[in-house]
Amino acid sequence: MGFKEKINLDNLPNHIAVIMDGNGRWAAKQGESRVFGHEHGVNSVRETAEAAAELGIGYLTLYAFSTENWNRPKFEVDALMTLFVDTIQREIETLNKNNIRLNAIGDLKSLPGENYRKLMDTIDETRNNDRMVLTLAMSYSARWEITEAVRRIITDKENQQLNAEEITENFFSNYLNTNDMPDPELLIRTSGEKRISNFLLWQIAYAELYFTPILWPEFTKEDFYEAIVNYQSRERRFGLTSEQIKS
Ligand code: IPE
Ligand code: IPE
Ligand code: MG
Repeated sequence: MGFKEKINLDNLPNHIAVIMDGNGRWAAKQGESRVFGHEHGVNSVRETAEAAAELGIGYLTLYAFSTENWNRPKFEVDALMTLFVDTIQREIETLNKNNIRLNAIGDLKSLPGENYRKLMDTIDETRNNDRMVLTLAMSYSARWEITEAVRRIITDKENQQLNAEEITENFFSNYLNTNDMPDPELLIRTSGEKRISNFLLWQIAYAELYFTPILWPEFTKEDFYEAIVNYQSRERRFGLTSEQIKS
């Protein structure tokens, strides 16, 4: 029996976030360049998005490029940007066929102009799809997002008369890039690294973390199902006692 059959469809996470890591190491294992690894990572994106949509996951958020990734060698950054534009362009049909709405978070204005335009066009062309929201985190980091939220709260005209007490967790969340999404219940990171690398710090406060040694280009639907089965074996207590949860 595969992992898919073990999934309890009544207890699916509504939002899954993924730190897609290990492209470079996967490429090195084949004696290839890092860019070759990124190219192959696209297949895993397609597989994962398809698996999530088929299961009925509401939101899938993929960490594609961090604020810190801008500091990689120019050659790699340029290749990644080209890969993003080409992929986004090529996948419009598949997104529409699978009824998936594309979304993006991060400092999108810092992307090269062509990337930004193609991204916005694709988001627009998929805006009526309602099976799943696929969010790409691009030029994203959680500290950037949180700092930006504070700036926007202060400069928002509606807030000029704001009292300190009015800043609640809910109020603050509304200024994050993810204001229209529920928090992820499950965060997956591939490649064996056990860190968050500046991803969704606020939103994962109570997410279940799942680390797998599989390198991103080798990550399959079956691996995705395994992560969900593992998630379903956990007791989410939110600070309560196990007895309280069970009664
Ligand atoms: C993840 O793979 C993709 C991005 C960060 C863009 P890496 O490129 O980080 O691969 P490793 O971690 O060096 O193997
Ligand atoms: C995190 O991976 C960012 C993305 C997956 C886009 P990194 O490879 O950049 O993270 P570190 O440097 O290992 O923490
Ligand atoms: Mg990495």
